[in-house]
Amino acid sequence: MHTIDEDMRRVVEEQRLGFAATVCPDATPNLSPKGTTAVWDDDHLIFADIRSPRTVENLRHNPAIEINVVDPISRKGYRFKGTGTVLTEGTLFDEVLAFYRRRRVVNEIRSVVLVEVERAMPLTSPAYDLGATEQEVRERWERHHEALRWGESGAPTGE
Ligand SMILES: Cc1cc2nc3c(=O)[nH]c(=O)nc-3n(C[C@H](O)[C@H](O)[C@H](O)COP(=O)(O)O)c2cc1C
Repeated sequence: MHTIDEDMRRVVEEQRLGFAATVCPDATPNLSPKGTTAVWDDDHLIFADIRSPRTVENLRHNPAIEINVVDPISRKGYRFKGTGTVLTEGTLFDEVLAFYRRRRVVNEIRSVVLVEVERAMPLTSPAYDLGATEQEVRERWERHHEALRWGESGAPTGE
């Protein structure tokens, strides 16, 4: 299918942090960050279950999942919607574990989640709706983070 294109791959590889939403048995949403989010191939994302009990339990009952990955400086990213499979053993599980060990993830990994991406869509801040360029948006948020580093206050205008 090739749902994950080059730019999506770039953003996921740069950020490595996705917010994964699953569905609880009582139909309420469950959202939590996964800093092990990575592209596995052209149609699959992965993340490691280090301590994600609710996400994993939800996926065992309902495989529906959406992951958002956003660059906090450019205020752009992607949303990936699909189905998640929890892997606890087997060749693929071992390959994914080896991938994380190469990435120096040293935590114990209980299971890995393989997400088949059925739809991938861009996310952009409303700042772009007002005509800002990516350069302008980047500078705005770089200044903000620089100010935070120096203990200064004053949030930037816009999203
Ligand atoms: C920045 C950040 C990255 C995280 N990355 C992961 C991760 O890759 N895997 C994991 O299992 N938990 C990770 N966590 C911890 C889970 O998000 C946290 O334990 C959460 O409560 C799990 O919720 P869940 O059971 O609903 O999935 C991360 C937390 C933060 C703040």
